[in-house]
Amino acid sequence: MSKWVQGSVVGHRRWTDSLHSLQVAAPEVTFVAGQFGRLALPAPPGSPEDMVGRPYSFVNAPGTGPHEFYFITVPDGPLTPRLAALSPGDPVWLLPRANGFFSVAEVQASDVLWCLATGTGLGPFLSILRTAEPWEKFERVVLVHAVRLPEELTYRDVIGAIAAAHPGAFTAISVVSRGSAPDALPGRIPALIADGRLEARAGVALAAESSHVMLCGNPAMVEDTQKVLEARGMRRHRRKEPGHVTVETYW
Ligand SMILES: Cc1cc2nc3c(=O)[nH]c(=O)nc-3n(C[C@H](O)[C@H](O)[C@H](O)COP(=O)(O)OP(=O)(O)OC[C@H]3O[C@@H](n4cnc5c(N)ncnc54)[C@H](O)[C@@H]3O)c2cc1C
Ligand SMILES: NC(=O)c1ccc[n+]([C@@H]2O[C@H](COP(=O)([O-])OP(=O)(O)OC[C@H]3O[C@@H](n4cnc5c(N)ncnc54)[C@H](OP(=O)(O)O)[C@@H]3O)[C@@H](O)[C@H]2O)c1
Repeated sequence: MSKWVQGSVVGHRRWTDSLHSLQVAAPEVTFVAGQFGRLALPAPPGSPEDMVGRPYSFVNAPGTGPHEFYFITVPDGPLTPRLAALSPGDPVWLLPRANGFFSVAEVQASDVLWCLATGTGLGPFLSILRTAEPWEKFERVVLVHAVRLPEELTYRDVIGAIAAAHPGAFTAISVVSRGSAPDALPGRIPALIADGRLEARAGVALAAESSHVMLCGNPAMVEDTQKVLEARGMRRHRRKEPGHVTVETYW
């Protein structure tokens, strides 16, 4: 258990029956916006490991506390039903160091940063967009949150605050696939790119010469969106081979 740092739950927001945000006090844990940490609880007796741990993206901005994590409960999942049962005052364990390359520092400057998320993949973008870096590196930022149901359009207050802090530079777009919500586009991200509706709503072009795209969430969305972007000449960004698309898949 020694590699883990003990944190304390200081807040728990239940957005829906399955969507939760946990606030955790653990000041010694540091990260770069867009990175993920690891949350853990003691493993059940008889388990081969001491702890059950899983990666979670930080939602808060670096240097601000408490840490925040946004997650969906996976029925019968080894960890999420237990995280969903935590209350303020309960202990939860974290790794002291964060990981991952899903950050603006890894991305080349361009005109437009497209942040495309499904479900809980919204989390790292909220951290990134609450730092100064994307606004210094890009003239415009478009955040797309694609969910199944209208009630899963969470963090509207945080997104509104980001919009208020960056007038003229920021566009937030909601996408709902199984229902409808005022101002939300219907359908899925890849189709909305392919038929031009996402760009029409954003009012900017999604093109290789002017854009960098960050994709986070459902691996099928990440794969299908990359195919649509490849057709526009946009390829995966790697440190040794700069490109236009940076991805983080959650499973
Ligand atoms: C780099 C990275 C960052 C991650 N960050 C987050 C995060 O910020 N928030 C979060 O909710 N999850 C995140 N995950 C997923 C998380 O680590 C767990 O897998 C998830 O919370 C389920 O844990 P579990 O032990 O209950 O079930 P697991 O046994 O880990 O997962 C069981 C199944 O649940 C499904 N699943 C897992 N995660 C999700 C999800 N987020 N949305 C929908 N279906 C899912 C998949 O089909 C998976 O095979 C991240 C994963 C990775 C690799
Ligand atoms: N505990 C519960 O009661 C509960 C409640 C809700 C969900 N869940 C489970 O949690 C998991 C994830 O739920 P979630 O809603 O956060 O995430 P999700 O299934 O990833 O859906 C989020 C959005 O991504 C879209 N999407 C899926 N595949 C795509 C693709 N290939 N290309 C583009 N977009 C795609 C979905 O559209 P579509 O709607 O068209 O698929 C939806 O709009 C599911 O396995 C679900 O069964 C559990």
